[in-house]
Amino acid sequence: MSALSVCTHADNFGACIHGVDLSTDLQAPLIEEIRNLWLQHQVVYFPKQNLQHRDLERVTRYFGDFGCDPYVQPLHRHKHILEIRREPGESVSPFGSSWHSDWSFQTSPPSATLLHAKVIPPFGGDTLFADGYRAFEALDATLANELQEMRAIHSARRPYSPEGFANSGGHKRSMAIVPDADAWSTQTHPIVRTHPETGRRALWVNPVYTVGIENLSAKQADALLKKLFDHALSNAFIYRHQWQANMLVLWDNRCTQHCAQGGYDGHLRVLHRTTVAGDQPY
Ligand code: SIN
Repeated sequence: MSALSVCTHADNFGACIHGVDLSTDLQAPLIEEIRNLWLQHQVVYFPKQNLQHRDLERVTRYFGDFGCDPYVQPLHRHKHILEIRREPGESVSPFGSSWHSDWSFQTSPPSATLLHAKVIPPFGGDTLFADGYRAFEALDATLANELQEMRAIHSARRPYSPEGFANSGGHKRSMAIVPDADAWSTQTHPIVRTHPETGRRALWVNPVYTVGIENLSAKQADALLKKLFDHALSNAFIYRHQWQANMLVLWDNRCTQHCAQGGYDGHLRVLHRTTVAGDQPY
């Protein structure tokens, strides 16, 4: 019988997992059980996990190789850990505060992200997650069929090109972000993505990195993307995650997008993030 105690959310989107100490080495059957819960619920979280950097790295490797994390300087001596940090005195919008799926502009974006809370403000600072499976399943059938033939254009240019970085006030952030002209490059991905492990289809466009649609004019693409974003980000598909210090969250970038919330000006918020390498979307 499993040692895990699992509390699932409405629509099976999100689950809280107790009964495991992630600071210890886990055996393969338990890792498999956690992996299955993650695939089933898309966003799983583990309260009260006191993790050192090496623990976060080890837990990340249970799910695959490390992903490639551009534009943000990692922690000293821990090249796969990024620090998501906002100082009490910062006034610019928090890092990650527009809807996105992590690094969707890459040829093979990360399958998973792990985020471990170090310092959590007394209020605010939630993270919203949107379920791409249910967003796809709720589409009008004709539109869903059309979308399955279409590819979207993704790029890091809005947050990470030198121009986009300056326009979004990136230089006012305390985080070590390194914009680069290579953020202007583009990558196309299917608008409807088939999850390589569950076989389910997800609506897979996001407002930060999806900048166009192949074979459509900018005007046509903007109109269709607006419609898809409005649909994908409607309340019915969203889970609001509330943090506690020492909580670890693991999410699936292949079928979700997320958005950091503010509302904690005057307070410090610090989390450590890793990603797991993924496949080319199809
Ligand atoms: C992120 O987008 O990875 C950051 C999410 C958060 O800080 O809540």
